[in-house]
Amino acid sequence: MNDKPVTKTLRYTCVLGLMFAASLTAFAINDPAAAADEYVPEFTSDKMLKLPGNNLWREWTFIGSLVTPNALNDGSAPFPEHHMIYVEPKTWEHYKQTGKFREGSVLAKELSRVLAPDGANENGSTDEVSGTGYFSGDFSGFEITIKSKALYPDEPGNWAYYTFGHQPQPYNSTAMKQPAAACNACHEGVAAEDFVFSQFYNVLQAAKPK
Ligand code: HEC
Repeated sequence: MNDKPVTKTLRYTCVLGLMFAASLTAFAINDPAAAADEYVPEFTSDKMLKLPGNNLWREWTFIGSLVTPNALNDGSAPFPEHHMIYVEPKTWEHYKQTGKFREGSVLAKELSRVLAPDGANENGSTDEVSGTGYFSGDFSGFEITIKSKALYPDEPGNWAYYTFGHQPQPYNSTAMKQPAAACNACHEGVAAEDFVFSQFYNVLQAAKPK
């Protein structure tokens, strides 16, 4: 059956419309700027950093993980036990393009205990289906670092460090800036790249422009 001209026109318009919508969607997915929803740190009136809501950092780019089980550290690791590191979206985009941490960079580190910390094998490991090893248990701490010349002109490297507690959730809802001696000093001395321990973050290393 032959379409009437009006129906035909309508059909072409619909097809063109769909193609246009599809190209817009493709553009949004491929455009890094569209994907990068910037997180801007929020502070209380007395300059305490507010804990980002809804565990927001778990939506950021995951750049690496380490594990320091208590059982391998005389029963009490300084940072127990899995460490998971995340980068805020704009910080990540900028790093991928320049290999540098921008003004306003934010990185987060979340800790979790190993599964059955008191149980299983003498070295703290457990025997699971994928093998003997260290599996993730409960979350156990959260920290943030921010680089900002505007906010922290006097901090070494313009980085400020905040800890929301080494404890299971809920974490503290606000955190005070730590003294440079407590955090910046070790980061400045030992971290490979602008106070950041990039030597341990293989995802970050792979993203660095050559
Ligand atoms: C003795 C050295 C040392 C001290 C002191 C230290 N850190 Fe770190 N920090 C590390 C190491 C090593 C890493 C690399 C990841 C890991 O092993 O957990 C790290 C990583 C981090 C990260 C992830 C981003 C990055 O910079 O690599 C944050 C956030 C962080 N530390 C916060 C803090 C805070 C907050 C303090 C102070 C309360 C602090 N750190 C004190 C050694 C230290």
